[in-house]
Amino acid sequence: MYQIIDGKRISKEIKDELKEQVAELKKQGREIVLAVIQVGNDPASSVYVGNKKKACEYIGIGSLSYELPEETTQEELLSLIEKLNQDENVNGILVQLPLPKHIDEDAVICAIDPQKDVDGFHPQSVGALCIGQPGFLSCTPAGIIELLKRSGISVEGKECVVIGRSNIVGKPMAILLLRENGTVTVTHSRTQNLKEICKRADILVVAIGKPKFVDDTYIKEGAVVIDVGIHRGENGKLCGDVDYEKVAPHTSAITPVPGGVGPMTIAMLMHNCVEASKVGTN
Ligand code: GUN
Repeated sequence: MYQIIDGKRISKEIKDELKEQVAELKKQGREIVLAVIQVGNDPASSVYVGNKKKACEYIGIGSLSYELPEETTQEELLSLIEKLNQDENVNGILVQLPLPKHIDEDAVICAIDPQKDVDGFHPQSVGALCIGQPGFLSCTPAGIIELLKRSGISVEGKECVVIGRSNIVGKPMAILLLRENGTVTVTHSRTQNLKEICKRADILVVAIGKPKFVDDTYIKEGAVVIDVGIHRGENGKLCGDVDYEKVAPHTSAITPVPGGVGPMTIAMLMHNCVEASKVGTN
């Protein structure tokens, strides 16, 4: 029988721990504030931003909401970020991606003060991750490591295969697994013999962005499977990058969609906000 890794429960556990910490900080007169910026009104982004604000409210973190029109110029966005960088009352800055095409995403990410980079996307945060120095970790891969730890799954010495090489998930995921002493292979859409490589995995992390791409023919019996994808199927039901029904019986543990990795991303964002409030105080 396989273990269903319950991201909803584990994220609640983390949020409750953070809530207690925030209450303690409040007693010492410290308030935590996250600035959330959305440019345009992409419906998926609006849902994510709404969930982030709800999580702030639950934990006791203040949120400042900037809903900017689609036509906002890069200069206008950069000057807002600069203002928030300077504002001592703001601990974290989050710019929801994707941005409209006329705005250079890299320039925007680089403009955020690394001490307020709660998404962990700034080159300084990514560099610190690569060489094992302190810094904010990208929330989805950090959430996956937390899921594994809190489910009693050790990475040390294991064959870990990551499908996907994005800056947000695949690349930081590989580095974090390496940091946990895994033996890591990063694969992507142009990898030859993808199936054979996946079949070696003790831990398989799938972030390829294609619904039900991974079926049972990719899985070594007893592997741990982590599904980062989220898609709305033709039947209106949510599904991941993994064909859950076919794959689950061959695993020792698997994350469901929804209720697996998704809730962890927000829990780790909240964790980063609490950490951001400690910057310069210890
Ligand atoms: N768009 C999709 N995922 C993310 C995320 O983790 N952070 C931000 N800022 N935008 C995203």
